[in-house]
Amino acid sequence: MSAKIIDGKAFAAKLRARVAEEVAALKASKAVTPGLAVVLVGEDPASQVYVRNKNAQTLEAGMASFERRMSAETTEAELLAVINELNHDPAVHGILVQLPLPKHLDSDLAINAIAPEKDVDGFHISNVGRLATGQSAAVPCTPLGCLLLLRDLHGDLSGMDAVVLGRSNIVGKPMAQLLLSSSCTVTVAHSRTRDIEAVSRRADILVAAVGRPEMVKASWIKPGATVIDVGINRIDAPERGTKPDGSPKTRLVGDVAYAEAAEVAGAITPVPGGVGPMTIACLLAGTVVACCRSLGVAPPSDLTL
Ligand code: GUN
Repeated sequence: MSAKIIDGKAFAAKLRARVAEEVAALKASKAVTPGLAVVLVGEDPASQVYVRNKNAQTLEAGMASFERRMSAETTEAELLAVINELNHDPAVHGILVQLPLPKHLDSDLAINAIAPEKDVDGFHISNVGRLATGQSAAVPCTPLGCLLLLRDLHGDLSGMDAVVLGRSNIVGKPMAQLLLSSSCTVTVAHSRTRDIEAVSRRADILVAAVGRPEMVKASWIKPGATVIDVGINRIDAPERGTKPDGSPKTRLVGDVAYAEAAEVAGAITPVPGGVGPMTIACLLAGTVVACCRSLGVAPPSDLTL
């Protein structure tokens, strides 16, 4: 069997086009431009790429983009002052503090300093609590992107067995909450889970978010299951030759051994081009929703859960 390939890139492009339509409508009807502010502290290379892509896509959707780049030596007080300023800036409807922060900064403190109604990442303790208790909430963008792909594929998810590999606050835990809200039977497996392969093989929906290249093998997958691969891992690819400095070229792989998994799964997301593009698309949608709410306007129903 060869799995259906879930085209997250195409889905995300459609979502961004919908966002752009809404942005144009808000500009025309309310003379307001939805604005997203990203705070980047330090020089983490992966974060820099993410922030650059976010900035480009925000502008492409017709939105305003505010970037605050701060040095790796930024103090807690300086970071909190910038967040406070953005909280009070009426042109900013969404605020994202790029993680990870340098080690000397407390990320919980920073995230909980964001006004909850501008917390487009859904990481603020009040949004986490709202999601957990079934109240409308800003939802973390990567798990939301996964859920949208799953809904598009399956429609109603109720009664399905879902296994989430990984328990991070950014992906694993909110993914489990979203699947539970969708009436799946949810198991969260992690590094201490006994016989994780057997647990994974029970899944109708298997979400891999562990950050370990190609950990999930074909033998972990129930035939016909849907596999959502959240991993983005850069590994050496000597078969592609060498870089000018003599080091091997690299390639991106997910947490799933794609080629063998695709022989067993019913549907699977590729890396790249699966979950990755959904994250920013959901972030832009969340910013438009936050903008609508700030204006007292009902957000478009297809941009909310
Ligand atoms: N770092 C990796 N993923 C994310 C994300 O979704 N949001 C933020 N703020 N930081 C991240």
